[in-house]
Amino acid sequence: MHEVRAPFTDTPLGHLPLCGEAEVRVAVGRARLAAAEWARAPTSRRTEPLRRFHDLVLKRQDEILDIVQLETGKARSHAFEEVADVAIVTRHYVSRAPGLLAPRRRRGVVPGLTRVTEVRKPKGVVGIISPWNYPLSLGATDTVPALLAGNAVVLKPDLQTTHTALWIAELLADAGLPEHLFQVVAGDGPAAGAALVDAADYISFTGSTATGRVVAARAGNRLTGASLELGGKNAMIVRADADLARAVEGALRGSFASTGQLCMSIERLYVHRVLYDAFLARFVDRVGRLRLGSGLDWGADLGSLTSAAQLAKVTGHVEDAVAKGVTVRAGGRPRPDIGPFFFEPTVLTGVTPGMRLHFEETFGPVVAVRPFDTDDEAVELANASRYGLNASVWSRDTRFARVLAARIEAGTVNVNESYSAAWASVDAPMGGVKDSGLGRRHGVDGLLKYTEAQTIAVQHVVPLDLSAPWVGRPGARRVATRVLGAMRRIPGLR
Ligand code: NAI
Ligand code: MG
Repeated sequence: MHEVRAPFTDTPLGHLPLCGEAEVRVAVGRARLAAAEWARAPTSRRTEPLRRFHDLVLKRQDEILDIVQLETGKARSHAFEEVADVAIVTRHYVSRAPGLLAPRRRRGVVPGLTRVTEVRKPKGVVGIISPWNYPLSLGATDTVPALLAGNAVVLKPDLQTTHTALWIAELLADAGLPEHLFQVVAGDGPAAGAALVDAADYISFTGSTATGRVVAARAGNRLTGASLELGGKNAMIVRADADLARAVEGALRGSFASTGQLCMSIERLYVHRVLYDAFLARFVDRVGRLRLGSGLDWGADLGSLTSAAQLAKVTGHVEDAVAKGVTVRAGGRPRPDIGPFFFEPTVLTGVTPGMRLHFEETFGPVVAVRPFDTDDEAVELANASRYGLNASVWSRDTRFARVLAARIEAGTVNVNESYSAAWASVDAPMGGVKDSGLGRRHGVDGLLKYTEAQTIAVQHVVPLDLSAPWVGRPGARRVATRVLGAMRRIPGLR
């Protein structure tokens, strides 16, 4: 049995049985049987329980706001972001999946003679391995498209946030999802997580880059597809023509959402020198007035870190930087008077490459600010990272900002917003480049990755045999070559 502790108080919250390899295999076996029947149902029929799930999440949000807060220690408003996210993603895929999954006509080699159809088949059993920082979002929003595509899902959440996953299972059952199509296995990463990678037909992983590499290697060994959404050290650029007040508010949201425990959160702030002093003064003032709190209510701007390990990591990053001469402009200390894992929202200047938090993901409420002089320098600074998940650009010239954004090595770039514009625009793909991951969620990619493409080509009238013995005759080959050459000039074939 694993004891889950509540971060607000570091007291017991619940006990979980631990699934090992055998239990995971049983769950995947049951899922595979259920998936066979589910896959035969038309997509429109599969949308029905998920549409009801969407309504239930909104209707019963108070239950899950409590559970998410109790498990993660985040502020209630940050938990609500997860509720909103699940509603947005579910609504989107429920309406788009039938069209995106329908068989598609493709052009034949010689139109009219070959009739080609692309069919999308489910993978079978999708294994989802999720972290503790956004348990409702990351437990549900990859699940919904996987189910709509005709798969069963086995979810292995982080042990810290398994109760949220169990609530998702209860809601999907109440919404009428057939039995065994969605199962939760409670367990350790190296045991239950690895067993799931070994048994599932596709893996959707969200978590640290280090674990992502282990999961990808293991899946690769079985030739099982995997998408990985990993860490970030995300940069925000405030250009000289930015709206200062809005940029400060954006930096607050971007740096401290879910106490900075967000893969897309801003940890590096680059501000044009003409705005730098004014920005810093205003930002530090606003940060100093953020309210920390541990209530299951709307009274706090910021909650706790989720675990003792998170507190140790964040404290370690800040202490290392202080020892190496950083300037602490705001925060910088743990707050045991509020709760055991609280840490103040922290603003640093004078961060140098020798400090751990210069390149490493802190995953806490800590942001480094530094000035820049030219747009080129800002892009260079933003790209000087092994990560490439999210970035943010602030400018009144949105046309120029889009050009600048395209030069940034990141899977999403938000202009005049820190992360939520791109994240919530779920019709567009989201994911990372470089060490931030592989593959995408959201958009067409986020649905079709859970399918195998099958091409069915029907040949009419004349067989298509380009290696027949007659090709060896010079005259025949001359004709064939001329036809191939002419095809380039037929508009419909180009
Ligand atoms: P983690 O990456 O180890 O855990 C994520 C999930 O993977 C959990 O469900 C875990 O049980 C599972 N897992 C662990 N080892 C596994 C294995 N060998 N095979 C299969 N599954 C496995 O992250 P962790 O340890 O919770 O956090 C450590 C650091 O990772 C954080 O301080 C933070 O920097 C980073 N992190 C980043 C996230 C992001 O969204 N970018 C999310 C979570 C953590
Ligand atoms: Mg770990």
